[in-house]
Formats: sequence, structure tokens, C-alpha cells
Amino acid sequence: MRLPITRLAAAASFFAFAIGLSNVVWSQGSPAERVINASPYVINADEALGNYVRTTAEAAIGEHCAGCHGADLTGQPGVPNLIDYDWLWGVTGMETNDVAPVMAIQQTMLYGVRNRDCPEDQMSYGACSDTRYSEMPGYGQLGFTEDQVNDLVEWVVDLSGGEADAAAVERAQATSGICAECHGADSYGYVPYGGPGLRDDIWLYGGDRDTIYDVIYNGRLGECPPWADTLDAATIKSLAVYIWNTSLGL
Ligand code: HEC
Ligand code: HEC
Repeated sequence: MRLPITRLAAAASFFAFAIGLSNVVWSQGSPAERVINASPYVINADEALGNYVRTTAEAAIGEHCAGCHGADLTGQPGVPNLIDYDWLWGVTGMETNDVAPVMAIQQTMLYGVRNRDCPEDQMSYGACSDTRYSEMPGYGQLGFTEDQVNDLVEWVVDLSGGEADAAAVERAQATSGICAECHGADSYGYVPYGGPGLRDDIWLYGGDRDTIYDVIYNGRLGECPPWADTLDAATIKSLAVYIWNTSLGL
């Protein structure tokens, strides 16, 4: 059964409630309706709902996500691993409960990342309203010299724990301050802008010097399509719960 996406908004305000309510209240209605209204806690505690979420998510992944994120969701260069508990958008900082992270994953799925496929009057700051948006600038186009970019490459290699040219890392201090806006003050990443953490060996595009140079010199604008018009609310919710559960190792 196809349910309108607007139900999600209503569902959101119910989540807080649902945590405290007994399963009896939610035993009414089809599994799809119950999944939309139930919190991740209620879903995971109910075998029938858990099975519905897994079956629905796995079918949707095969049909809609596997082509980019891989059948096992571990990604490929330019497309993130969705189950490694390393987040580009939202989620980090919300882990004190299961509800907020699932909502953040839903936001990414509903409106996509850097979606610009909408009428002019629905655009806001160059992209569709509600889509995740930010830009990794191309510092070559912004006037950085090749030497400056090479120094920044060494800085990034050093941050991620690799063997770097110490003199170049030192020189990069002159420009690396501007990276904090999107990668965080200590380069651990900044999820409101989708800036990846640079202090680990997890790479969106790749950890070799050529790739890092290309990213810094030319910039990047990775895109995930929006799913609000393609998938119904129960499938979106199932995918979000499934991705969160799997990233937790459940
Ligand atoms: C056309 C390729 C493509 C398809 C199809 C696609 N994605 Fe994505 N997805 C991406 C890319 C690329 C990114 C990274 C965007 C960026 O650079 O921030 C992404 C990012 C995401 C993120 C954010 C991850 C994070 O770390 O915050 C989620 C969640 C996500 N996708 C879910 C899905 C789901 C669920 C599906 C299937 C319904 C799907 N995507 C289908 C390309 C795709
Ligand atoms: C205005 C925001 C912004 C600024 C400023 C910025 N970045 Fe980025 N950076 C991003 C975003 C967003 C991504 C991810 C791009 C994508 O998802 O397609 C990224 C990606 C990267 C990556 C790729 C990481 C990976 O895992 O593959 C590197 C390396 C990088 N940035 C280095 C830098 C450096 C060095 C600076 C400073 C000179 C910098 N960035 C400044 C937003 C920014």
C-alpha cells in the first residue's frame, strides 16, 4: 500500500510518544502503517515489524541503491559506505537515542544530497529546498598555486596518519585554516555541511596523493538523488531504520 509522504511529519511528532507506549496501541493497522508511526525501539522490539523493515529495505536497496552504494551498501569511490557508522550528513552528535539519527537519515533520503532538479522558485541558495547542500571548493580555480595545493595534500596525508613531508605540512599551516569551516576545527568532520572527517583512514574519494590533489584543486559536488517522489513513506522509514540498525551491527 502506498502512503503519502506527509504522513512522515505526523509520524515524527509521534516518535517521542511511541517510545513510552505499549505495543498494544501499535498492533492496529497494516505493517506499513505501523512502521511509519512506530519509533525504531518499537520496531526493533516487534518481530513482525522488524521482518517487514528488513524485507522492504532489502528489496528497495536491490532496486534503487545498489547501483551506486553497492548491494551490501559498502559504497565505492565517490559514494559513501552507509553501514560503517561514519556519517557525512547529520547523525553524528545525535547518537544519544535511536530516533534522531533515523530522522536525519530520512532527511538525506527524502530530499537527496545537492539536488538541483527542481523549478527555479523552489531553489534556495542554488539547490532545492531541504536538500543537503554544501560545496568542496576547487582551490585551483580560486587561485591557489600547485605548490600550495601540494602542501595541503601533505597536510591531509599527515592528518589521516600517513607518512608526510614535514616541511610541507608546516607550510600548509598558512592556508589550512580555511578548511575548518566545513571539516571542523580539529578536522574531525562537520556534518551540517557534509564535510568528511580528515583524521581517519575512511575516504569518500580516495587516500592516494593524486586523488587528494584532484579533490582540493578541482573541488567536488557529490550527489545522492532525492527519494520523496519515488518511494513511499513506509519504504523510506524502513530503509532509514535498516541503515541505522546495520551501522550499529544489529
Ligand atoms: C546515483 C547514485 C546514487 C544512488 C542511486 C543512491 N545514492 Fe545515496 N549517495 C550517493 C552519493 C554520491 C552520496 C554522497 C553525497 C555526498 O557527496 O555527500 C550519497 C549519500 C547517501 C547518504 C548519506 C550518507 C552519509 O554518510 O551521511 C545516504 C543516507 C544515502 N545516500 C542513502 C541512499 C539510499 C537509501 C539509496 C537508495 C534508495 C541511495 N542512497 C541511492 C549516490 C547515490
Ligand atoms: C565550504 C566547505 C568546504 C571547505 C571550506 C573545504 N572543504 Fe573539503 N570538502 C567539503 C565537502 C562537502 C567535501 C565532500 C565533497 C562531496 O561530498 O562530494 C569535502 C571533501 C574533501 C576531501 C575528500 C575527503 C575524502 O574522504 O575523500 C578532502 C581531501 C578535502 N575536502 C580537503 C579540503 C581542504 C584541504 C580544505 C581547505 C583548503 C577544504 N577541504 C575546504 C567541504 C569543504
